[in-house]
Amino acid sequence: MAKIVVAPHAGFCFGVKRAINIAERISREDKGKRIWSIGPLIHNPQEVERLRKKGIEVLETEDKLNVGDTVIIRSHGIPPDKEKEYIEKGLKIVDATCPYVKAVHQAVERLVEEGYFVVLLGERNHPEVIGTLGYLKKAGGSGIVVETKEDLEKVKHIERIGVVAQTTQNEQFFKEAVGELALWAKEIKVINTICNATSERQEDVYELAPKVDVMIIVGGKNSGNTRRLYEISRSLNPRSYHVETAQELEESWFDGAETVGITAGASTPDWIIEEVKKRVEGILK
Ligand code: F3S
Repeated sequence: MAKIVVAPHAGFCFGVKRAINIAERISREDKGKRIWSIGPLIHNPQEVERLRKKGIEVLETEDKLNVGDTVIIRSHGIPPDKEKEYIEKGLKIVDATCPYVKAVHQAVERLVEEGYFVVLLGERNHPEVIGTLGYLKKAGGSGIVVETKEDLEKVKHIERIGVVAQTTQNEQFFKEAVGELALWAKEIKVINTICNATSERQEDVYELAPKVDVMIIVGGKNSGNTRRLYEISRSLNPRSYHVETAQELEESWFDGAETVGITAGASTPDWIIEEVKKRVEGILK
């Protein structure tokens, strides 16, 4: 009988759970009003659809906003000048920014205050990074986003560097980047802002992927943290697959498999993980 192992930290993280709870509360309190989330509340289309049925629409273009509408800031956060703009437009703001993302904002402010040039290790176009850069701007500091090792070259001449990371940054890259910077700069101050939820999920994959025949990573295709779990898994086990839903699973993936590992990104709801597990069970029978 084949064995299925679900990783201990698969699925929703604290910040996403919190944002969804806030959104559900607002959908009850502001029933009848127009409620928007600025971008999808989580990177999972199925869960976004479930919330839409509760009255929470994803804001695509800002011209849809009317005075008195409710706007939910999702766990990634937004730049402070954007928030100010919404308040000035007469919108009700509900802030569901994850406290760990808030901690990155505060870390940046602190580094600027202490006179460091800020290096933010993250993805340039990620909403969390865009939000954090807004706090850098507000604090009047200078800094850059470092996405690849090549980007590090740009700060070779800087003497005092303060490092923070996008909460979902890969630990390996964080280690490498900090190591390089420590060799060049006169002084570096590192504030490790990688969220535990990310490392716990990544550690699960390091642990599980090499031990199983097939590894399934469940989560939105547009979810950065899910994609990273998949990349790590593939580097350890070529029979790794990334699916959004149970329907995407293909029977041929499991040919001869004795053990199957399942994990999921921080934005994957439990009900989808359960469906995937059931379908794998069905295929393995
Ligand atoms: Fe927050 Fe970490 Fe989740 S930063 S949104 S708890 S991945």
